[in-house]
Amino acid sequence: MSETTSAPETVDRPLSQDGAQPAADRGSNRSQRPTSEAFRAFIAGGWGPRPPAPAPSPAAPWAAARRARVSALFPGDRLVLPAGPLKVRSNDTDYRFRPHSAFAHLTGLGEDREPDAVLVLEPRPDADGGGHEAVLWFRPRAERDTEEFWADARYGEFWVGVRPSLQDVETELGLGCRSVEQLPDALAQGLARSGEDGLRLRVVHGADPAVDALAAQAREAAGLDGASATAHDDALTEALSELRLVKDDFEVEQMRAAVAATAAGFDAVVRALPAALGHPRGERVVETAFEGLARREGNGVGYETIAAAGAHACTLHWIRNDGPVREGELVLVDAGVEVPSLYTADITRTLPVSGRFTDVQRHVYQAVLDAADAAFAVARPGSRFRDLHVAAMEVIAARLEQWDLLPVRAEESLDPQTGGQHRRWMVHGTSHHLGIDVHDCAQARREMYLDAELVPGMVFTIEPGLYFKADDLLVPAELRGIGVRIEDDVLVTQDGCENLSAALPRRPEDVEAWMASLA
Ligand code: GLY
Ligand code: MN
Ligand code: MN
Repeated sequence: MSETTSAPETVDRPLSQDGAQPAADRGSNRSQRPTSEAFRAFIAGGWGPRPPAPAPSPAAPWAAARRARVSALFPGDRLVLPAGPLKVRSNDTDYRFRPHSAFAHLTGLGEDREPDAVLVLEPRPDADGGGHEAVLWFRPRAERDTEEFWADARYGEFWVGVRPSLQDVETELGLGCRSVEQLPDALAQGLARSGEDGLRLRVVHGADPAVDALAAQAREAAGLDGASATAHDDALTEALSELRLVKDDFEVEQMRAAVAATAAGFDAVVRALPAALGHPRGERVVETAFEGLARREGNGVGYETIAAAGAHACTLHWIRNDGPVREGELVLVDAGVEVPSLYTADITRTLPVSGRFTDVQRHVYQAVLDAADAAFAVARPGSRFRDLHVAAMEVIAARLEQWDLLPVRAEESLDPQTGGQHRRWMVHGTSHHLGIDVHDCAQARREMYLDAELVPGMVFTIEPGLYFKADDLLVPAELRGIGVRIEDDVLVTQDGCENLSAALPRRPEDVEAWMASLA
């Protein structure tokens, strides 16, 4: 490692010797806001009435039912779910806000709501064996006679638009709301001391550093050790993740909307291919064709779009998307629209740029499609989640054996203890749960996820692939630089499964016909 070099001179160094402006004041280098009393009085008045209170959210009753299930798991405990704070992108510019997924799930809030909010499920003292009261602590709008109203670029209505009052959100969500300023006292109140029975705190750790710090203080004051706190928090996080393994009817409806918007996004991608061909960064043309639609029709994309032409398709998370799109090559597009409720699709199609697969591309594509179909064939109640991957890998290994690529027999390659050679050409998994997170339910226990039986209402992907890297000397030259993935979103039904993304063509001849129809 090289020696540390001294930092270059920066303009942030205070220049106080000669009376110049100190570095701490530089944030006000831009034009100054007025400060006079006359201005303050003037800007506080003369405004029309506030907009009417919002209608009750259709998500609210579903969120209440989910809260009741969490409540039953942790009787007597105070459960704390932060939305998270605004995150700095750079200097004084923040990222667009997206609430923590567990918070969104249990409140029904989506889009960009609500920075700094914290949902607390407070155990009812009079509840017989359980029961919680839900309270949403958030930063209500500042009234027009405050400086925040006109001067605060992060929260003031002059800067970010109309903000809700406590009463607005109570009406919208059907739960009690309080100002987050009073949260510190409320979090610490009445905690049982170490070794005593009584009220315990469980926090979704890592969602909001300020809430984590408050919880640490409260626990320290109660004499609680860090290890038991971590165990309590982890149990809550795990339960919240597992709560999402089976989607309710509202969630399934949101998934259908996300998939429909994503299918429209793929139409936009196909229509953009001629423009992509003529641009030095054709992959960006593909990416933005999708993302423009995602912003117009949804909240945005559910994850960074992969627009991978030619050999870039063999880089699994190719999100730089700055390469050209060339005639005769494939372009792998892995993209999902996140709808305003934050549910996202996750779909991949691998398209022949010129509208027709070559023989060798079709060959690889068909193997991947057959692997996907094998996984679909076991996607039904009673199968285990891991069976999806096993079924897909049996096809992949057999095909690679037929093509003389495997150094061992397919059967040996499929042996999890001693084999695995086929995974050189597909190192990722075949399936993951999908919902409010693209990799949903990730904190669920193995026995609830990988080893669990499928049940109606589960939603996951089936996404096998084959990737022959351009510098892979173990495959024939004609395969090098070909990467194919086919990814669909699947709902488990009472007696099988439904391919939610079936409207997007999958078979090679159907892909070609679809592309021709949009040409
Ligand atoms: N797009 C990420 C994934 O397919 O898992
Ligand atoms: Mn996926
Ligand atoms: Mn994907």
